[in-house]
Amino acid sequence: QHPKQAWPYPEVVAHRGGGTLAPENTVAGFREGMRYGYRAAECDVKLSADNVCFLLHDDTVDRTSNGKGAARAKTMAELSQLDAGGWKGGAFAGEALPTLANVAAYCLAQRMLLNIEIKPCPGRFEETGRLVAQEAARLWAGASAPPLLSSFEIDALRAAQAAEPALPRAFLCEEIPANWRAILAELDCVALHCDHKTLTEELARDIKAAGYQLLCYTVNDPADARRLLAWGVDSLCTDRLDLLPARG
Ligand code: G3P
Ligand code: MG
Repeated sequence: QHPKQAWPYPEVVAHRGGGTLAPENTVAGFREGMRYGYRAAECDVKLSADNVCFLLHDDTVDRTSNGKGAARAKTMAELSQLDAGGWKGGAFAGEALPTLANVAAYCLAQRMLLNIEIKPCPGRFEETGRLVAQEAARLWAGASAPPLLSSFEIDALRAAQAAEPALPRAFLCEEIPANWRAILAELDCVALHCDHKTLTEELARDIKAAGYQLLCYTVNDPADARRLLAWGVDSLCTDRLDLLPARG
């Protein structure tokens, strides 16, 4: 169904920029990925109070910055003041909490492929899907490989599809639901991304036979990586860039 060129991703993709080796969802993380020879990374993107697309995993800034409180209540000017690196060690102190535009500039300059996980703040599913897709289309206009949009939130993916149908999409799930075929077809996805712990060899075979690309997260054990690749999984999202060498 979907041509191979819709999946330019290598076998390994750096989770949240540089895995656990650098502060997640920062440009320092992406730099770590480059240092390990990674050509692709995943990051989590949500909207600030003033609708700027920026990188953060949690609903609050508490765990991964020196700030406190709900991300959705903060403007980008406020978020930009935070130290998003110091929690990971003194070497990263002062690292900024990046916008999607910051990361696009880095990735385009370094020819790094990006999987943008749309990770909406509570209650902002549709607008996050729409605005992230529009911003991604603007930032990557004319680029040789567009970013891949993925989300656990079907409403966010649906809004991304309506806003920018040409950007490739992946349905992200912990456990693969029984109606995965209908979901992938409705959202016109190129890929399914699932938790590697829930994948079976049979499901992997069915998903590949149906013509979709298959990515597993978060694969940190080389033995798991070998088994999943042998099952036909196309790409592995990992925290351990030091254990899973970049290749292919
Ligand atoms: O996109 C794969 C993976 O990042 C999903 O889980 O919680 O790390 O965003 P999480
Ligand atoms: Mg993620």
